[in-house]
Amino acid sequence: MRVALGSDHAGFQLKEEIKRFLYDNHVDCGDFGVSSMEPADYPDIAGAVAEAVAQGKFDCGILVCGTGIGMAIAANKVPGIRAALCHDLFTARAAKEHNDANILALGGRVLSSQLACEIVETWLNAHFAGERHARRLEKIRSLEARYCCNGEEK
Ligand code: RB5
Repeated sequence: MRVALGSDHAGFQLKEEIKRFLYDNHVDCGDFGVSSMEPADYPDIAGAVAEAVAQGKFDCGILVCGTGIGMAIAANKVPGIRAALCHDLFTARAAKEHNDANILALGGRVLSSQLACEIVETWLNAHFAGERHARRLEKIRSLEARYCCNGEEK
């Protein structure tokens, strides 16, 4: 499994903690920045990570900004991306089981690094439940296709 990681300045410290956690657990990851706490615009990083995941270069992605909200909004503009903002273990598991979220968005100003790593672990280890949830994802794909050429880039 390959995980694409990214943050803005407000998520930088938590992104580094998550990178260390993934490394310690032998999970391969690619870091799309940022590499310091210099102010950065979250859509730039969200776009790069979301495109890499949508193109199949990575299996999934983790994005961190101050709240996680901006990262989730921006990543979800990329066709094929299902980014979920999670602040607890229940939503982390449901994001995979029900929504097959391929990007996890986290708030660096919201979560402790310990809870964030538990959320990451829960999300990575959960599995999509399929069945009725697959039908609902198909409806999301249809909705997306109405606005962006059958889910492909224009
Ligand atoms: C940056 O100050 C902050 O707005 C950003 O990290 C994020 O929380 C946006 O959603």
